[in-house]
Amino acid sequence: MKILIVNGPNLNLLGQREPGIYGSESFEAYLEQLRKRYPDVEIDYFQSNVEGELIDKLQEAGFVQQPVVDGIVLNAGAYTHTSIAMHDCIRSLKSPVIEVHISNVHQREEFRHKSFLSPVCRGVICGFGLDSYRLAVEAILG
Ligand code: DQA
Repeated sequence: MKILIVNGPNLNLLGQREPGIYGSESFEAYLEQLRKRYPDVEIDYFQSNVEGELIDKLQEAGFVQQPVVDGIVLNAGAYTHTSIAMHDCIRSLKSPVIEVHISNVHQREEFRHKSFLSPVCRGVICGFGLDSYRLAVEAILG
């Protein structure tokens, strides 16, 4: 079983960026715990602030790579609310994609209520802090 976690723009700053919203733990520390919790699952991780690099990685893992990964956990950050290019990419992938958000975007500004990605993702998990990622891993395993 192989899962890829992809984080979009500004998520490299987790732990330091707006801790009141996103918490004070770095993603690297969280990832270490997640890998320990699922020792039989190969969990790859990729982060980029660049939209095209995120698309290249999604295509590689979900389309080109043989066999394609079993599932992709994607937090596209603000590109969630803007990117038709990511929408088009996700709809062509063979691997299921779970959209995740650390914060509950529906409790926040109206511009975060619209997701271009939700209609082409297998499901959406948001609002559970970093635990949103574990819930997405569970969804793929299930
Ligand atoms: C986010 C929510 C987005 O609206 C925001 O742009 C982010 C993080 C979250 O995980 O809560 O960068 O995806």
